Amino acid sequence: MEFSPLKIISIVACTMLVVGYLKRRDRKVHIPLMVSAFTIDMGLLLYIEITRHAIEQASHAPGGLLIFHITISVGVVVLYIGQVVSGIKKRKGISSAWHRKAGLPLVILRVGNLITSFMVTAASS
Ligand code: HEM
Repeated sequence: MEFSPLKIISIVACTMLVVGYLKRRDRKVHIPLMVSAFTIDMGLLLYIEITRHAIEQASHAPGGLLIFHITISVGVVVLYIGQVVSGIKKRKGISSAWHRKAGLPLVILRVGNLITSFMVTAASS
């Protein structure tokens, strides 16, 4: 397994998301952890796209594993945006059924994204 700096940053963000989920009842811990995980993950995405043109590369001859990884990753971005928007509402006192329902699916997809990122690297080296 190759632990590149990007992978280590990804493990840190994923760990923050898992701990933030476990601390979902403690706003003082939950919100800073989730905002940090989201910021790091969006930064990672931008960095990978800018330096590797990942979307163009993947669109040439993607294998099944890469397609699976990209599908998971798109799901992560969509759910993240939903959680941040509904989380801000919740903080203002507006209840959100979405925020509770989409939390665990996001955590599962984000862990899946991390695992498949290692598989994609192993398969391409
Ligand atoms: C800007 C980001 C976020 C903000 C501002 C935010 C805000 C909040 C607030 C205010 C609560 C209520 C806490 C309480 O019970 O007092 C909460 C609960 C919760 N949050 Fe977040 N959150 C954010 C991101 C996330 C993310 C990314 C996830 C996904 C894993 C998540 C999952 C949950 C879950 C599952 C609950 C419990 C919901 C319930 O039982 O009603 N949150 N969040």
